[in-house]
Amino acid sequence: MKRRRTAIVAGNWKMNFDHLEATLFVQKLAWMLKDVHFDFKKCEVAIMPSFTSLRSVQVLIESENIPIKYGAQTVSVTSQGAFTGDVSADMLAALGCSYVIVGHSERRKYHPENDANLVDQVRAVLAAGMKPVLCVGESLSERREGIELEFAVGQVNEVARDLSSEEASQMLVAYEPLWAIGTGMTATSTSAQEACKAIREYFDNTYGGETAEKIKVLYGGSVNSSNAAQLLSDCADMDGFLVGGASLDVEEFASIVRITQKLAGSFR
Ligand code: PGA
Repeated sequence: MKRRRTAIVAGNWKMNFDHLEATLFVQKLAWMLKDVHFDFKKCEVAIMPSFTSLRSVQVLIESENIPIKYGAQTVSVTSQGAFTGDVSADMLAALGCSYVIVGHSERRKYHPENDANLVDQVRAVLAAGMKPVLCVGESLSERREGIELEFAVGQVNEVARDLSSEEASQMLVAYEPLWAIGTGMTATSTSAQEACKAIREYFDNTYGGETAEKIKVLYGGSVNSSNAAQLLSDCADMDGFLVGGASLDVEEFASIVRITQKLAGSFR
């Protein structure tokens, strides 16, 4: 089996770490990965800090030439103006962000982020030259009904269907079943693979094989250094992870990253 896409592990820090803690973490992570001659060509490493840490992380990463990427956890759909509290895609791009998480379940739950808004977020992120990481995934009730795949693919379709194939091929999709986020319950390899495959098939059916081959599909939901290897080696359509809780511990996060690099390497 061949994985043609470069793996990626992204840490979603949510509302944790101020700018001092964030830079200390990045510095430690960079040292740890340098120590083991980490191959960033096999596995991209990204962190998604709070808005308030982005500038400090940028300065550190640029001044020390650290090959770790970073991004934001959400973005405004408008480019500027009277939108108190919002941050535009251009502002994030100016801070060197590579990625923006779009439609994380916590944003969908606590903020008025509906599908139309998410399409606009994806467009804003792409227009600013960054990549959106679209989060989808079913709740326990959809899973009990047996409609988890339709649900997750439906969420992708709501956002992706109006994009051109060029735009769509820039996307990353994170399959994050709600019942697995922050609960310690992980999807089984079988169900994670089914979902990642169904998402890739959606892009195949909608945009064709070339786009489907480019799309990176990540898994998120209680990923840690004990379950990462199994998930990745069992799931041919999984290209890496979006890690929440375990990304707050630098040793744990470094382990997940190393496991991913090792397995990604063996698949190439
Ligand atoms: P978790 O969170 O790893 O703590 O389950 C994942 C996420 O919310 O992206």
